[in-house]
Amino acid sequence: MCGIVGYTGKESVTDQLLDALELLEYRGYDSAGLATLNGETGKVKLRKCAGRVKDLRKICRNDKKISTCGIGHTRWATHGGVSDENAHPHRSGDVLLVHNGIIENYEELKDHFMLHKDLKSQTDTEVVAAVLNRFYQGNPHEAICRTIKYLKGTFALVVMFSDQPDILYAIRNVSPIVAAYNGDGTMLASDVVALGAAAEKYMVVPEYMILELHKDEIKLFDLDGKQCEPEFMDIDWDTTRGGKGSYPFYMEKEIMEQPDALKATMESRIVEGKIDLTADAIPDEFLRDCNRICVIACGTAMHAGLVAKVLVQSKFNMHMNVEYASEFMYGNPVLDEKTLVLAISQSGETIDTLEALKYARRQGAKSVAIINVKGSSIARESDYVMYTAAGPEIAVASTKAYTTQLVALFLLVGRMAKVRGVFDEAAEKEYLENLVEAPAKMLEVLEQKNEIHKIAREMLDAKDAFMIGRGLDYSILLEGALKLKEVSYIHTEAYASGELKHGTIALITENTPVVATVTQTNLKDKELSNIREVQSRGASVVLFVKESFDLADAEYADVFALPAMADEFMVFPASVALQLLAYYVSMDKGLDVDKPRNLAKVVTVE
Ligand code: G6P
Repeated sequence: MCGIVGYTGKESVTDQLLDALELLEYRGYDSAGLATLNGETGKVKLRKCAGRVKDLRKICRNDKKISTCGIGHTRWATHGGVSDENAHPHRSGDVLLVHNGIIENYEELKDHFMLHKDLKSQTDTEVVAAVLNRFYQGNPHEAICRTIKYLKGTFALVVMFSDQPDILYAIRNVSPIVAAYNGDGTMLASDVVALGAAAEKYMVVPEYMILELHKDEIKLFDLDGKQCEPEFMDIDWDTTRGGKGSYPFYMEKEIMEQPDALKATMESRIVEGKIDLTADAIPDEFLRDCNRICVIACGTAMHAGLVAKVLVQSKFNMHMNVEYASEFMYGNPVLDEKTLVLAISQSGETIDTLEALKYARRQGAKSVAIINVKGSSIARESDYVMYTAAGPEIAVASTKAYTTQLVALFLLVGRMAKVRGVFDEAAEKEYLENLVEAPAKMLEVLEQKNEIHKIAREMLDAKDAFMIGRGLDYSILLEGALKLKEVSYIHTEAYASGELKHGTIALITENTPVVATVTQTNLKDKELSNIREVQSRGASVVLFVKESFDLADAEYADVFALPAMADEFMVFPASVALQLLAYYVSMDKGLDVDKPRNLAKVVTVE
C-alpha cells in the first residue's frame, strides 16, 4: 500500500515523479506529494495534498521545475486521516521522508524521543522522520542505522537529506523497493511499473541494506558499511508502456487482454502436447508425494484457489483447504512436509499471504507460489514459483491476473494428475485440448460485450444483488460478486443456491436482481429449480448459461449463452462475462472504475 518513487539524474524531476506516481496510484490514492532538491541552490520544495495525483499536478503547474532530484508518494491512509498534513513527504529538519508500511511502535517512539511538540501530522511516518533528524549529523548511513534499530513493523523508507545534493537513500523491511538505471538518471519505486520507459533491468533492494541512488550509479551497502554488488533482473513487461490505449479504463483493457495473457501463460508450459513444468523447476516427486494441499491467498487470488479445489478434489483422493491468508494462522492449520502450500498472489507483496507462507514454511510445508510480479517478496519466499504472464495489471479490480492464475492452476493440477497416474496420455491430451481452447472461448464472449452491456444497464439502480449457483458455479460467482461490489458499490452476495432457503431467501423481494450461472451438467437441474424458487418470490434473474443446455420454457429477465466447453473449463467464459457485467455497471454509473473508493491494489498492511 502506498506508492513510493524517487529520481536523481539530469532531467527535471517533477514531471518524472508525477508520471511515475500516476502509474503507482493503484497502490493508494487518498493523497499525493513530492519533494524536490535543487543541487545548486540547496533549495527544497515540498508539495502535497489530499486527493489524487492529478490534484498534485495542478499544484505543481507553475513551479519552475529545475530540480533534478526528488521523492514522491501516493498514500492509502492508515495512521491519521486523509489530509494535506498527513500526506507524504514528511519533513523534519534536514530530513525529507516517504514511507510505505506501518511503524507499530510509533507512539512509544514519540514518548521515548519526546517528539510530541515537533509533529504536525498524525502519521507514524513523521515520527520516523523526526527520529532520523535527531540522529542526523551529516552522516546519512549512521542516522539510518541508528533509526531502524528502534523501528518495529514494516517499512520501505526513502530519504532525501537537504544537505546531500543529488543522492537518495532507501532501506526496507518487508515492504518492497526496486531501483533501475533509466537512461538519463536512476530511479527507485515500489513497483517495476513506475521505473520509467528507458529502464531495461531492475534490482530488488534486499531487506535491511542501504540503497544509495546517485545520478549515474546505484550503490548498495550492508549495515556495517560494506559495499555489495546489486543483482539486476530483466524487465520484460513491455505493455507497461502502453497506457490505456484507446480504452476509457484499464479494467476494460485488461479484460480484453485476457485471451493473449492466457496464451502467454500456457505457451512455455505445453511442450509437444504435454504439460511441462521444467522451467518452473517443480519436482514431480513433490507433486506425486504430497498428501494435502492448502491454498493461502486474499481476495480474487483466493477465489482462484477455490476453483482449483473443485478440480483437485474431483481428481485425487486428497484434502484441499482454501484459506483466507489473514485467517490462516489462527486456525492452527495442520501442516507437515507432505503438505503442498499454494500461495497465490498477483502482486507477490500481499502481506497477509506473505506472513501465512512464512508460517507454513516454519511448520515444514513445501510451497509453490503462483505470482504475476517477478522477484516479488512472496516469489522469493516460496520454494517454487510459477509466474503468470498477465503483464502489469493496473486496475484495482483484478481480471487478467485471476484468469491467468486459473491457467497456472489448471496446468499444475494437470501435471499432478499425470505424475500420480490419474491421467494417461489420452486423458492428458483431452484436458490440454480443452485448456488451449479457453482463450478462443473467452474471445467469443468478448465479441458479444455489447450484449452484456445491455444486461448491465438493467442493474444500475440496484442497491443489493445476489449471485447463486452450486459447485464450480458457486466458486465462479464468489469472484463475480466481488467484482460487482468493488467496482459498482452494489451490495452483492454470492450464495450457494441450495443454501438460500436456509435464511437468505428472506431478502429476495420484487425485482431483486439475481445473477445465476448454470454451467455444470450434473448441477443444472438443481440450479434451475433454485432459480425458480427466487423467481417465485419476485426476483429478476439474469442467467449465464452454457449454450448447449436446454432451458425448457422458463422465462428470465435476461439470458446470455456462454460458449460451451467441457464443464470444468466453463470457468473461463463465465468469468469474463461476469467481469464485463461489473465493468459496465460501474462505467454506466459514472464511477471511477479503475480506482474504487477505499481500495488499494497492493495491500502491504495486515
Ligand atoms: C487487494 C486487491 C484485490 C486482490 C487482493 C490480493 O485487495 O484489491 O484485487 O485480489 O488484494 O492481491 P494479490 O496481489 O495478493 O493477488
